[in-house]
Amino acid sequence: MPITKKYKKIVIGNWKENPSTHEAAKNIVKNIKRVASQVTKTITVLCPPSVFLSDLGKGEQPYSKGAQDVSVFEGGSHTGEVSAEMLKDSGVEYTIVGHSERRKMGETDAMVASKIVALHFARVTAVMCVGEDNRDSGGQYLDILKNQIKHSLAGVEKKNLSHLIVAYEPVWAIGATQAMSPADVHETAIFIKKTLADLFGHDYVTKIPILYGGSVNFRNAGEIVGEGHVDGLLVGRESINPEGFNEILKVVDTI
Ligand code: PGA
Repeated sequence: MPITKKYKKIVIGNWKENPSTHEAAKNIVKNIKRVASQVTKTITVLCPPSVFLSDLGKGEQPYSKGAQDVSVFEGGSHTGEVSAEMLKDSGVEYTIVGHSERRKMGETDAMVASKIVALHFARVTAVMCVGEDNRDSGGQYLDILKNQIKHSLAGVEKKNLSHLIVAYEPVWAIGATQAMSPADVHETAIFIKKTLADLFGHDYVTKIPILYGGSVNFRNAGEIVGEGHVDGLLVGRESINPEGFNEILKVVDTI
């Protein structure tokens, strides 16, 4: 389900390393399913740990399946890795790459770039996370962001940009008490669009969705999307709380 005239926004739930059991995973899905089928303009994507992908059910669902990571390799002797092709064959349409929590574990821009290329080869949409650790008063964070985008997209072909989403996640706002202000989200989203346009040309990048992530909840979701002028949200903690996640879906669907 790509963003189209019909589906204007996208809300992605990143479950991270949660919950602990299949039963709990099924319960989250059950409690999100009804609202996901009621929203008409918003694509819902659920990214559970890959062992729980089967708990999202088979066949057509009111949400899309997503993964949280992918191997840079196509297959072979790489213990612990899951390939893009395996994800695709498990019904996965979207995969998060370069999340700051993985970057902290050693994932480099070059690895992110290889992962995006692998996903594109399998026709899976890459949700590329970028974001500065801190905001310095001198504005150096903008250069950091620009370089992150440039290097994480090395080798990505223009023809595959319809399978790219950029999730802007300022690291300092992830797992925090407060999200970034909508005005700052807007300003940064414009900067990201400009950076993408410089890399690929304006015509190719107008359709790349830009999402915001970092301490999103149902209270701030509306203003972040509305006043921040982003195409959707990447939700962490609130994505395993069906009540909160459902409210986020409903709010975003009204924008
Ligand atoms: P958070 O996480 O919503 O819990 O801040 C966001 C993320 O890590 O994608």
